[in-house]
Amino acid sequence: MAVAPANQSIYLDNAATTPCDPRVVEAMLPYFTEKFGNPGSRNHRYGWESEEAVDQAREQVAALLGANEKEVIFTSGATESNNLAIKGAAYMYEKAPAGAGRCRGHIITGAIEHKAVLDPCKRLQKEGFEVTFLDAPPDGIFTAEMVRSAIREDTILVSMMWANNEIGTINEVPRIGALCHEREIVFHTDATQWAGKMPVNVEKDCIDLLSMSGHKIYGPKGVGALYVRRRKPRIRLQALVDGGGQERGFRPGTLNVTGIVGLGKAAELCRAEMDADGARLVKLRRTLEDSLVTQLDHCAINGHREKRLPHIANVSFGFVEGESLMMACKELAVSSGSACTSASLEPSYVLKGLGVGDELAHSSLRMSLGRFTRESDVAFAVEKIVGAVRKLRELSPLYDMHNEGIDLSKVEWGHH
Ligand SMILES: Cc1ncc(COP(=O)(O)O)c(C=O)c1O
Repeated sequence: MAVAPANQSIYLDNAATTPCDPRVVEAMLPYFTEKFGNPGSRNHRYGWESEEAVDQAREQVAALLGANEKEVIFTSGATESNNLAIKGAAYMYEKAPAGAGRCRGHIITGAIEHKAVLDPCKRLQKEGFEVTFLDAPPDGIFTAEMVRSAIREDTILVSMMWANNEIGTINEVPRIGALCHEREIVFHTDATQWAGKMPVNVEKDCIDLLSMSGHKIYGPKGVGALYVRRRKPRIRLQALVDGGGQERGFRPGTLNVTGIVGLGKAAELCRAEMDADGARLVKLRRTLEDSLVTQLDHCAINGHREKRLPHIANVSFGFVEGESLMMACKELAVSSGSACTSASLEPSYVLKGLGVGDELAHSSLRMSLGRFTRESDVAFAVEKIVGAVRKLRELSPLYDMHNEGIDLSKVEWGHH
């Protein structure tokens, strides 16, 4: 029987965050101590040294995205990048001023985006913009056609994530970008789960604004980037904070030099190792999914089977109770299909958005693999989950009834 190392659990939650790659940490260390200058200090070596390090990181991030280094704005993470992109573009490209009593502009996004996109859009709705939240199809993939049918005369912005963080499905981003360019609509993509794992070319992919984050790509937390297109067309944004004019005025404040150096190094490593990492992870993920589906009945993969990221698997297990399943798999660090909102367990809005019922959404697990996941980790996870599901089903009267051929949807449950 496979065992987890003492006091440790197997980490399969790389979509939530990744460990920092030791090579990233090594690159960052000097910038905490001897190279501590403020890159804004123009008059001495300390400042120049830090500025050089920031310039290098900007080149590393730009290279990952196929962008020019002048188009990279450093932020505190993808949440901030999304806020700056969405609100900054909405305020800059509005069709009518606030308080004029008319729609300030129309925005299109998807209903299963991350909260860091949904919430800025909801804020804009309150401020007089109109937002279309496109419903997700059952396979989770948003197409250019879906966006096309929602475009209006006054559409100013489309924000569509490249890949979904809960189910790993991949949207038609280059096509949506091309459509937006054709219609002269600003196009933003939240590429937090995509960039660093899959190739990006902001030119070819017709992207105007792209958000990414350090801690999803083996870099540090609290640092991210926003790509802002400078030509054809030049994208303008209204800054959300005022201050010293750093980052072309889009994001003032003294730069997080250590974090930025880490993000740059992480981007460089991802670029160099993307193909090998991706190929290895696809194989591991398929092993994980195939093993679960073949060993367990009533086990379904959520989201499109093929059009998905290499490293994210989301699986529902019928006839088990979600919390009991998590408890029975304590040695696994995975994410559940439920989110804790004010002490109550809510089924994931992403899974619900695909049409997965509340029960099944609760009994779903997201397992996300990463650079440091080993084959033995996946084997251990499969053994644990299969064992736990079988055990829980032994205790489940519903599973028994189902196996006896009783149609549970037709059962009239007595109320006591
Ligand atoms: C798709 C997506 N967008 C945005 C975020 C937020 O990123 P950050 O933690 O860098 O603010 C996440 C992280 O959970 C994410 O997965």
